[in-house]
Amino acid sequence: MFYNVISIRQDFPGLHQKVNNHPLVYLDSAASTQKPLQVFKKESEFTLYQYAAVHRGIHTLSIQATSMMEKVRQKAANFIHASSAEEIVFVKGTTEAINLVANSFGRKFIGKNDNIIITEMEHHANIVPWYMLSKVIGFEIRILSISDTGKLKLEKLNKLIDAQTRLLSFTHISNVLGTINPVKEIIQQAKTLAASYGTELHVLIDGAQGAMHSIVNMQDLDCDFYAFSGHKLYGPTGIGILYAKKTILDQMPPWEGGGSMIQNVSFKNGITYADAPWRFEAGTPNITAIIGLGAAFDYLSEIGQEKAFSHEEKIMTYATQKLKDIPALVLFGNDKRKGVISFNLGTHHSYDVGLFLDQYGIAIRTGHHCALPLMNRLNISAACRASIGIYTTQDDIDVLFNALKRINTLLG
Ligand SMILES: Cc1ncc(COP(=O)(O)O)c(C=O)c1O
Repeated sequence: MFYNVISIRQDFPGLHQKVNNHPLVYLDSAASTQKPLQVFKKESEFTLYQYAAVHRGIHTLSIQATSMMEKVRQKAANFIHASSAEEIVFVKGTTEAINLVANSFGRKFIGKNDNIIITEMEHHANIVPWYMLSKVIGFEIRILSISDTGKLKLEKLNKLIDAQTRLLSFTHISNVLGTINPVKEIIQQAKTLAASYGTELHVLIDGAQGAMHSIVNMQDLDCDFYAFSGHKLYGPTGIGILYAKKTILDQMPPWEGGGSMIQNVSFKNGITYADAPWRFEAGTPNITAIIGLGAAFDYLSEIGQEKAFSHEEKIMTYATQKLKDIPALVLFGNDKRKGVISFNLGTHHSYDVGLFLDQYGIAIRTGHHCALPLMNRLNISAACRASIGIYTTQDDIDVLFNALKRINTLLG
């Protein structure tokens, strides 16, 4: 399978610049990917020539814009192999998607005496909304712990689930460890156990990292919710997707009120809401970003996700081997990591390492990565994280490796 990474890189003008007099080495794609020209062109063409507010419009431009937006809903459904476009809700990103589920599904279906399960490797986006809701409703949050090699302790899951467990919410791929969780197996295990208690347990997958490094198939996974962000998928910021099974979405109340999400509003007769998914999209949507996201889906399908992911896998294997050659460097997680490689260099704070790397034009992320409970579990306050995308090369890793060696010598 030939993958021409050099030609892919031509689509990303942002990669071809100097930072601090060095050619940019962009190793921060887990935070946000660079954008290809194709996405930018589609967005600017739409903004300049096809733009109009969607929904309710009677004029040609509005009707066209509405139809373009709804086509992207279908593209999103195709991208994650959902059974219909009506299972796709446009949201700002993963964070908003999880907040939507918490405030709509959670408020209706999770009671005071219930519990939910999250894991020790979650991003704050999959912790804080549940914590906030539990303060209002009073349910318990149970935590599935991880092993020293950064894997979920699945043998403990059965002990956490009982007849009162309403939701299991966990990440597809850890944004710190790069651990890829066996999502399908976990869902089967959890749902079978809940069924043995005669109850139904719903599963939410935080796919912020999962959707960018693996082909996801909703019908195969059988999760109830899957959340991901456009800006980590070579698309614009401010747009993301919440997938939810139609049968569940139909039972969920709206969480934000306003225009575009109602059927009727009357002071006398009250308010009736639009069908799902539209009743979850109050107000004027981020139309331009939705169009850009559609272009990102097209772009990824044109270059071939399978080829891109097998390229990424080679880069990750190479990066793991290379970084292990630096004696002072401590790697976190295990060698099957996807997309991200986190480490600390001796006792140096990750900010110092990150600042030095920046002087060489190398962009990595430092700090707690919005995963403070995981930092606590790893017994560290912060870490360096290099993360890759479809455009990352072995040369990028070599530049990182050489710079880390130099920093290690300089800092001593
Ligand atoms: C695993 C994971 N979950 C959730 C998020 C939040 O995504 P967003 O900020 O796009 O809403 C991120 C972003 O870094 C992430 O890596």
